[in-house]
Amino acid sequence: MTNRRNFLKKGCLAAASTAFTFPHFSHATEKELNLWKKLPRFNNDDFLWDWVRNEYSVSSTIANLNNGSVSPQPKVVQEVLEHYTREFNTIPSMYMWSEGDTSNAVRVQLAALAGCSPEEIAVNRNTTEALNTVIWGMNYNKGDEIILTEQDYTSVMNTWQEAEARYGVVLKWLSLDLPVEDDEEIVNAYTQAVTDRTKVVMITHVNNINGNILPVKKITAAIKDINPAIKVLVDGAHSFAHIDFKISELGCDFYGTSLHKWLCAPFGTGMLYVKKSEIQGLWPLFTHVDPQSDNINKFATFGTRNLPAELSIARAIDFHKAIGIERKEARLRYLKDYWISKVHDIPNVEIKTSMKPEFACALGSFSLKNMPDGEVVQKLLKNYQVHVTQKGDKTGKFHGMRVTPHIYTKTEELDRLVKGIQELSRA
Ligand SMILES: Cc1ncc(COP(=O)(O)O)c(C=O)c1O
Repeated sequence: MTNRRNFLKKGCLAAASTAFTFPHFSHATEKELNLWKKLPRFNNDDFLWDWVRNEYSVSSTIANLNNGSVSPQPKVVQEVLEHYTREFNTIPSMYMWSEGDTSNAVRVQLAALAGCSPEEIAVNRNTTEALNTVIWGMNYNKGDEIILTEQDYTSVMNTWQEAEARYGVVLKWLSLDLPVEDDEEIVNAYTQAVTDRTKVVMITHVNNINGNILPVKKITAAIKDINPAIKVLVDGAHSFAHIDFKISELGCDFYGTSLHKWLCAPFGTGMLYVKKSEIQGLWPLFTHVDPQSDNINKFATFGTRNLPAELSIARAIDFHKAIGIERKEARLRYLKDYWISKVHDIPNVEIKTSMKPEFACALGSFSLKNMPDGEVVQKLLKNYQVHVTQKGDKTGKFHGMRVTPHIYTKTEELDRLVKGIQELSRA
């Protein structure tokens, strides 16, 4: 047994230390990493961002401005993933259940980014799984009230509607007039919906429609002020590794995110945060030998998993940290402001995202008065090789095209979008 462990440990270490060549900066030498650290907090120099671009293997013909749905991985993440996949394929069963130390190391790194304890972090497959774990993990009484908005993510609203049908919980819908830009108004909307039957408040940190950032910390503080027993669940699909914050600062009980969005980790990797004091009382989604344990690992027992992908999250974290969240956030906001500032005065163009930095970062939205959204999406792709996506809310009162650059996006690609919007707005 000991020999087998040693063999596996060696295999794992070999995997982790395989040499890739610079310029992939997760393999950068100390000197190179120091160079990054010395760069100004926000450097918009083309040299710097061309360097980042070269770290990705993205299409050079189509400008991908739909990174909000899922993001590409830097080459270095793809390589380490391929490497682990090859290693595991030599003898899968021996690797699959023997990488505990390495996957714990990933949890430790994620927890450091999130500003919480590794004992509060479970690695899973995506936000959907994280939020389903929380929603189905609570005990409900008929009539328990859940506060959510008509601008939350469709599949999450569907999950709550299923809970309504199964358990008789009452959904109390708020309706946000996007873009929302007034903290007090937003906080009041949530607090006014609270009653003595309120069980859960769900908040989407950055929505997927127009990228509106909500003041989660303020909402949570106000809710807990009314009744600390109310559970706050945050949909963080679009906030983690996009904007600079720590989960621990939000004051929420549960937070779920997808690491294949802003962290650029392998597809199908996600994370669930459960406040330490809440772990014991939350049932795991998948069977666990001790479902009432206070060990976070009970939320990560979904059978045979894609461990090569999970282990490769570590490389995505290295890459993210080499850039730094402050510089990354500033660059992302710059890219959104860049295209919006060039089109927002054009007749027929409606900008649907806040220009106040605290209410939006990378994601922006627009529509044209003279053309339906679906046609704009098609024409941008066909005539300008620009890929954006069409979004709307549950009520139909909000619609528009969501434009999502990422750190590898070139301003020339945004110029193509701008040209497309200019010409289509005159069609
Ligand atoms: C706000 C929001 N929540 C949840 C999800 C679901 O994410 P995933 O498909 O990675 O589970 C998304 C996906 O885009 C989203 O935008």
